[in-house]
Amino acid sequence: MNILILGSGGREHAFALKLSQSDKLTKLFIAPGNAGTSEIATNLAIDPVDFAAVKAAVLENNITMVIVGPEAPLVAGVHDFFLQDAELKNIPVVGPKKDGAELEGSKEFSKKFMKSHGVPTAAYDAFTVETLAEGKAFLETLKAPYVLKADGLAAGKGVLILESLEEAKAELEDMLSNKKFGEASSKVVIEEFLDGIELSVFVLTDGKNYKVLPSAKDYKRIGEGDKGLNTGGMGAISPVPFADEDFLAKVEERVVIPTVEGLQKDGIDYRGFIFIGLMNIDGNPFVIEYNVRMGDPETEVVIPRIKSDLLDLFEGVANQTLNEKSFELTEQTATTVMVVAGGYPEAYEKGKVITGLENVEGSTVFHAGTTHKDGNVVTNGGRVMAFTSLGDNMEEALKKSYANIAKVKFEDMNFRTDIGFDLR
Ligand code: AMP
Ligand code: GLY
Repeated sequence: MNILILGSGGREHAFALKLSQSDKLTKLFIAPGNAGTSEIATNLAIDPVDFAAVKAAVLENNITMVIVGPEAPLVAGVHDFFLQDAELKNIPVVGPKKDGAELEGSKEFSKKFMKSHGVPTAAYDAFTVETLAEGKAFLETLKAPYVLKADGLAAGKGVLILESLEEAKAELEDMLSNKKFGEASSKVVIEEFLDGIELSVFVLTDGKNYKVLPSAKDYKRIGEGDKGLNTGGMGAISPVPFADEDFLAKVEERVVIPTVEGLQKDGIDYRGFIFIGLMNIDGNPFVIEYNVRMGDPETEVVIPRIKSDLLDLFEGVANQTLNEKSFELTEQTATTVMVVAGGYPEAYEKGKVITGLENVEGSTVFHAGTTHKDGNVVTNGGRVMAFTSLGDNMEEALKKSYANIAKVKFEDMNFRTDIGFDLR
């Protein structure tokens, strides 16, 4: 098979590496990819939301399946575009169509979905500028802290958690009346605060059958001890020690099954990943959010734990035969530590020469923001590379990741030294 992956991050590099190990693979392409993916696939300089360019590349390279990494092309309807095009309609796309992508594209849609299918989640209501007064009154019925969410995609920045009622009312007004997050906050979901420990569970589904992938915990804040600004993710661990068998059985029964069945009941033919953000409250799972893709950097710890052929699993997604596919995991723990550009997640520089990659041993470096320039590998984004390791326990795996980070250098490089600190 000739595969095209859309995306350019560590997540897509992790997919690429795993697919490159499949006997079913003939040629692997990635658009646009990064310096790391260029070692194992052909990078194509295409923006994943430029569907006309994606089509041209698919036809030119005889692509037989497309794997979508990030949410933007899904929410913009890349899968629908394929189905509606006479030349593309028989080429399977792994990733939901626009209707399914609404689970991530609209917080209100996803809350309604959870409510109607009995998936445990925080109580909520949704408001627009016309119902601002009702929104403020709803806040008065809740206890602090207050959770406000822009309905639409806001690059991970659309959630505010506020300690005081006055602040919450002011922010609600700013989001609705002043469009604090642009169109994304023309509607705002207000919800009850869930007090527990966060983790994520990932599902791969063909619309009828599903496989529950390993659980993972990511570290979103820039600073040690989970302090400071939110980032795309600074590291991740899989499995999550507190997500024991009993808890994961509850997740499957109360969340995964009603979600997959709910999609079917609502006539949504969903083929792809579902990322379920969960809060564990006294051993019971509550859904914080759905994403319609894999997480990044969670993919960099989830995929390395899958022993089975990922391309075979994707074929199962395309043909709705996922139930017939073998699905084996390693018991080992995977850790990943993200190395970022100094200044990230605020302003940072690009183009710094990265050295020492050839000395890495016993870890896999998944590239994110990297490219080639004048014969060097240079930084090309805020999150630069993820160092993934496997070990018999978290400490052993982390030790390898950190030992290898020490061998690699670029100017102003930064990373968290405390990934997994709360799980020890
Ligand atoms: P989201 O974009 O929905 O993932 O929200 C971003 C982060 O805000 C989540 O990862 C949680 O840490 C936090 N969060 C969102 N909703 C709630 C809630 N209802 N209660 C507590 N924390 C929340
Ligand atoms: N690491 C969080 C995400 O991918 O959304």
